[in-house]
Amino acid sequence: MTGPVRSAYDELIAANELRPDPAQARAVAGLDQLAGSFGAGGLFARLFRSAPDGPSGVYLWGGVGRGKSMLMDLAFANIDVHPKRRVHFHEFMLDIHVRLRLARERLEGDPIEPVAEQIGAEAKLLCFDEMQVTNPADAMILSRLFGKLLEEGVKVVTTSNRKPRDLYKDGLNRELFLPFIDLIEKRMLVIEINGPTDYRLDRLTGVEVWHVPNGPEATAALSRAFFQLTDYPVEDRAKVPSEDIDVGDGRTLHVPKSLKGVAVFSFKRLCGEARGAADYLAIARRYHTVIIVGIPVMGREMRNEAARFVTLIDALYEHNVKLLAAADAEPEGLYASGDGSFEFLRTISRLEEMRSAEYLAQGHGKS
Ligand SMILES: Nc1ncnc2c1ncn2[C@@H]1O[C@H](COP(=O)(O)OP(=O)(O)O)[C@@H](O)[C@H]1O
Ligand SMILES: [Mg+2]
Repeated sequence: MTGPVRSAYDELIAANELRPDPAQARAVAGLDQLAGSFGAGGLFARLFRSAPDGPSGVYLWGGVGRGKSMLMDLAFANIDVHPKRRVHFHEFMLDIHVRLRLARERLEGDPIEPVAEQIGAEAKLLCFDEMQVTNPADAMILSRLFGKLLEEGVKVVTTSNRKPRDLYKDGLNRELFLPFIDLIEKRMLVIEINGPTDYRLDRLTGVEVWHVPNGPEATAALSRAFFQLTDYPVEDRAKVPSEDIDVGDGRTLHVPKSLKGVAVFSFKRLCGEARGAADYLAIARRYHTVIIVGIPVMGREMRNEAARFVTLIDALYEHNVKLLAAADAEPEGLYASGDGSFEFLRTISRLEEMRSAEYLAQGHGKS
């Protein structure tokens, strides 16, 4: 006998929209257990009622592209309880901050309790995508709010890249946050989804990764790939975050677009400035996919740029980083003569391999 999430999941598999995945199947079972823990409700809830109170939620965690958000959405759509709310975690925290401020203006005393009551009245099922805790204010609020929410009987599904123990890792006053972790581990089903397949990268197979020449067409294709890889709404394209990453020795590197393990750079920024192996290794460790635009055909006078490009490609290759690029030539035409053009042959061969389906199917990281 199957629960509502399982039925929906199986239908998608039967329709060939999803491939069977054992790690996901375990998560689906957990989500059905949650579905069954809602007291009253539809037929399924009555059939699958587990212990009278059952789990207070499901915490799905694992690497990118494993299907966490997809499963959460499936649970949200198929768990028969109302009202319910699905929200990006970041947005939820912003909302909480506003409510706390309003409550403080209106009431004396601790605002957490009335805010928890409001939230509980608005949703019996709360789904958060991408829980992450990076600042002390959020850590404190969560620690206190969550317990109250669960007391209100609110059930929670959340996704995260980290296991609960690693939330707010190395954060300030982390000891005050530990009860929150205990609460998650005690009351929620914590389920790891870390199958071998990154389904999002899977979509790269068959995607053209090397675009010639530089220009609006190449830019448009890479931009499409970027939004596909990051599931970022195209309407928000002007707001893609940038980041300064630490490259050692107190130096940083500005990454103009940085989202979900995907970085976008110009060739100029990467190879036109005094950069070296340390910078490129930091990139290779940090990002599973790198998009480089504006790779020129390099003449003799560009031997420094060519040498940096060699080092860059070595670092990316050794860490199985996926490379998408816009260039003025195919790899073999990039640096035909000049100092180090012999060494550049290795780079050409690596670039060719990096376009292959086998290479693109590998996971990120040193092999
Ligand atoms: N079992 C599967 N078979 C095929 N595609 C899948 C499967 N699981 C997830 N996907 C797809 O892979 C992409 C990434 O999934 P997503 O849920 O966004 O991953 P995560 O939240 O873990 O990063 C989505 O488009 C999703 O529909
Ligand atoms: Mg996700």
